[in-house]
Amino acid sequence: MSEHSRKLLIVEDDPGLLSQLKWCFEGYDVFTAEDRESAIAELRRHEPIVVLQDLGLPPKPEGVEEGLLTLGEIVKLAPHTKVIVVTGNGDQENALTAVAQGAYDFYEKPVDTDTLKLLVDRAFNISELELQNRKLLSRVNESPLDGIVAASEGMLAVCRMIEKVAPTDVTALLLGEIGTGKELLARALHRLSPRADNNFIAINCAAIPENLLESELFGHEKGSFTGAHKQTLGKIELANGGTLLLDEIGDMPVALQAKMLRFLQERVIERVGGREEISVDVRVVCATNQNPEELIKEGAFREDLYYRVSEITINIPPFRDREEGRLILARNLLQKYSKTQGRAINGFSDDAIQAIDTYLWPGNVRELENKIKGAVIMADGKTVTAADLGIVAGEGEVESLNLRSVRQCAESKAIRVALTKSYGNISKAAEMLGITRPTLYDLLNKYGMTADGYSKKNVAS
Ligand SMILES: Nc1ncnc2c1ncn2[C@@H]1O[C@H](COP(=O)(O)OP(=O)(O)OP(=O)(O)O)[C@@H](O)[C@H]1O
Ligand SMILES: [Mg+2]
Repeated sequence: MSEHSRKLLIVEDDPGLLSQLKWCFEGYDVFTAEDRESAIAELRRHEPIVVLQDLGLPPKPEGVEEGLLTLGEIVKLAPHTKVIVVTGNGDQENALTAVAQGAYDFYEKPVDTDTLKLLVDRAFNISELELQNRKLLSRVNESPLDGIVAASEGMLAVCRMIEKVAPTDVTALLLGEIGTGKELLARALHRLSPRADNNFIAINCAAIPENLLESELFGHEKGSFTGAHKQTLGKIELANGGTLLLDEIGDMPVALQAKMLRFLQERVIERVGGREEISVDVRVVCATNQNPEELIKEGAFREDLYYRVSEITINIPPFRDREEGRLILARNLLQKYSKTQGRAINGFSDDAIQAIDTYLWPGNVRELENKIKGAVIMADGKTVTAADLGIVAGEGEVESLNLRSVRQCAESKAIRVALTKSYGNISKAAEMLGITRPTLYDLLNKYGMTADGYSKKNVAS
């Protein structure tokens, strides 16, 4: 961590000890305070990352009351700040009380500066790690993957993989149910690659009749078959220098798979009816909603082709498994389609929020998109209701009997709904949930959630 970001607040009323500590933390960005009031003022002004706080503060430095009050205020105002309390010798009980109230750690007097320094350094390091973690979790729309909303951990992991794979030439296989975003991600892979300035060509192997697919892919020479009036380039050649998406590769006829394999191995093609070998430089991305291993077992897909196309496999999670991202994506789409339809709709009704969060979404994001498009047209008022969407809360929900998982499920759901309604405002969400802000922060930590993605600024078009 760079030195200049080491903001440390020392709260100590003993001037001798204070100057010893200042000397000890010379290389840090140190601020000091000697009582509760000045500590809070310094906290607000400088937002320190770590606070080293004496538990015995004036007006009664021999007691801990004022120290605990100070600690309580710091934790409430700056829940991510790490507070290390310094207690009297042997004062375990108060040290533990302080930790229970949210202190990160404690240190018993007399002060040994080397040990204390280790403790403070560790707090800075942990804080840095936590910050990175929060940033990763809240990379909604900050992602260079333009237009892709990724708020759930699963989708963030997918996006990170796309970013890593993009600069290379490996052949990636995108696996995911219908409507999970396979094509969107394949396009992102191309956009982030060095081939971005060249063509992105997609061909849907399931949509083209078997007898035409070969010529669509490889092109044909004039007169090579009835109706071949002129020479035509295939999709592979059109993608030269760029990226070729073989969509629904699981539906490619077995006979053509052999030809495809040869192309992938040798990077040369022969047009239908042609005699010449043409080298082509394309990056191939494949996608399917089928299970390739099962297709291989059924004899519908060549195993050697599978290994060739799956140098990297990216599994896109179904929408029902993306709890964290559901409402965020729904809101993004609502804003997008209200704009394109020219309708002044400003949000979802409570029953719509519940329904979106609990419906199982068999058609994944595409189904959500279609339902929202329709609802924007149907909505009578300024909000979209569950009826406009045509879904009912909890429809198809799987019942669990494990009490702990039922409780966690209900708890995280309530938090998501409160964050959605409050646009990520922690105080308002905590109030709706009938808990304090620190408790809400604890719960967000517990469920690996962050409020950032719910804020208005993140509802992009
Ligand atoms: N994470 C996302 N953020 C924003 N829009 C998304 C996201 N995922 C999917 N979409 C949108 O949902 C629709 C379906 O996505 P896409 O066509 O990429 O899915 P697919 O997996 O290829 O679907 P299919 O199996 O039906 O071909 C598209 O309109 C796409 O823009
Ligand atoms: Mg698709």
